[in-house]
Amino acid sequence: MRKCLLSIMVLLCCHIAIAQSAPETSKNAMVVTAQHLATNVGLQILKQGGNAIDAAVAVGYALAVVHPCCGNIGGGGLMLIHRANGKNIFINFREKAPAKLQRDMLIHNNKVDNKKILFGYLGSGVPGTVKGLNLALKKYGTMPLKIVMQPAIRLAQHGYKLTAGDVKFLGKFTDVFRQHMNVAKIFLKSGKPYKVGQILLQSELAHTLSLIAQHGSRAFYRGNIAKQMIKAIQAHGGVMTMKDLADYRAKITKPVVCHYRGYKVMSSPPPGSGTTLCEMLSILNAYPLSKMGFHSAESIHYNIEAMRYAFADRNHYLGDPAFVDNPAKKLLSPQYIKIIRQQIKANKAGNSRALLKKHLLQESPNTTHYSIVDQYGNAVAVTYTLNSFFGNKRIPGNTGFFMNDELDDFTIIPGKSNQFHLIQGKANLLAPGKQPLSSMSPTIIMKNNKLFMVVGTPGGSTIITQILEVIENVIDFHMNIAEAVAAPRYHMQWLPDKVYIEPHAFSKEVIKQLEKMGYKIHVGLASGEKRWGAVMAIKRNLKTGEYSGAADPRRPAGAARGY
Ligand code: GLY
Repeated sequence: MRKCLLSIMVLLCCHIAIAQSAPETSKNAMVVTAQHLATNVGLQILKQGGNAIDAAVAVGYALAVVHPCCGNIGGGGLMLIHRANGKNIFINFREKAPAKLQRDMLIHNNKVDNKKILFGYLGSGVPGTVKGLNLALKKYGTMPLKIVMQPAIRLAQHGYKLTAGDVKFLGKFTDVFRQHMNVAKIFLKSGKPYKVGQILLQSELAHTLSLIAQHGSRAFYRGNIAKQMIKAIQAHGGVMTMKDLADYRAKITKPVVCHYRGYKVMSSPPPGSGTTLCEMLSILNAYPLSKMGFHSAESIHYNIEAMRYAFADRNHYLGDPAFVDNPAKKLLSPQYIKIIRQQIKANKAGNSRALLKKHLLQESPNTTHYSIVDQYGNAVAVTYTLNSFFGNKRIPGNTGFFMNDELDDFTIIPGKSNQFHLIQGKANLLAPGKQPLSSMSPTIIMKNNKLFMVVGTPGGSTIITQILEVIENVIDFHMNIAEAVAAPRYHMQWLPDKVYIEPHAFSKEVIKQLEKMGYKIHVGLASGEKRWGAVMAIKRNLKTGEYSGAADPRRPAGAARGY
């Protein structure tokens, strides 16, 4: 095992910058986010006696300020809570399609109009973040909204010093920011990209956040902020109305649950993709991955096949539960999992196109994740998103926040792919008032009723497979949480029928063996992007109760901190 870990670390040292090779450890509590100042905000709330939910809400608002590509109030997300009293809660605050939006508005000459979806207001769903965070605080938090929002307001009002990790994101979109004066005046410094060490001030966002802190969700969904949003949206071809905003509700339901090698895995039901994560884990439960070895051709083969079958089901059957009867129970039933395993041949790649015709069930960017555990035994996993980095790259009026372009996650034309090259079916077809299917899967793992892991990541369709691999790295390959998060990754999503890998994820010999089995290996992602996510994970030592946390080195502004 030591040898195996050593070789992983050598591989990582040579090819991937590792921010942390050893995890941050703590006795009482831990916060892991994609931006170190947001991590500090969460920790400060916990030290003041707040619980993990108070900290999660404070971090949610803080990331909207210090991680504006992805943290947001103009988007939506999913929250999973494990309470110290043993109760587990899922909060769905995913965006919704406006009531007047029709699919044909997003189609031009029989093609999906990507420009409209990704850069216009027609691709924006009704935002859910403010309702979701405020609902979580009201139901399960202990502190007033004004107090938990104070750090975010301060960071927006007084500004914060940009690090290399922050500048990396801001600097990517200079040309797009230049197209809109109200965006350029905040996110460019005299028309140029920000540099490391400069201060980013967001006084308009501070004002918006102050209104929410004072008046609660009403300020965002009915007041002046709502009016500005709708004015900007309708002036630029969007169809969202004040009624869409006023009608938005975040929903509380139960997590999807499965078991993997004696661990209880809880994740996000639709519109999240925890069902798909659970389907992969359930398939893999029968294969001795640990014996096969980390990134051996054999263990990769079974993983890829689990990914292929689970993604085929996801993209065919799953959608907003308010519109679609999701067959989650059937997909996770032992009988169905057995049928899938019978199709998987040793040493031979499966065929995604063949699966397209024969569904086995006989029935009909960018995002950010954070994980928090508190001193009382509560745990929270939140993934929330604007979809693309900085959403549609537009700020409504002088509200200071970016709007999402989440509706790209819908099937707009069945059989045609979206920005993540996902080919999805009718269950996820855009409809007025519907929530698009998400890959987000904030996940909490228990062992013998004790908290074991909190994990999640951004990364579009790769979210599900990244979480799978980190779980395996810990449970099957016995890595510490920092190693598990840093280890190189791979991904398969049914179609395209290729295996996407991080540079140097597999040895040349393993690639040869996989190609011999029939796999097409592609270094990079289908979208051509380099975003392999940003896992934020916490693990609890089941013997000592100590926490260890790791922020993904792929998102260098992040930090894990505990006390
Ligand atoms: N917008 C990416 C996702 O929710 O899967």
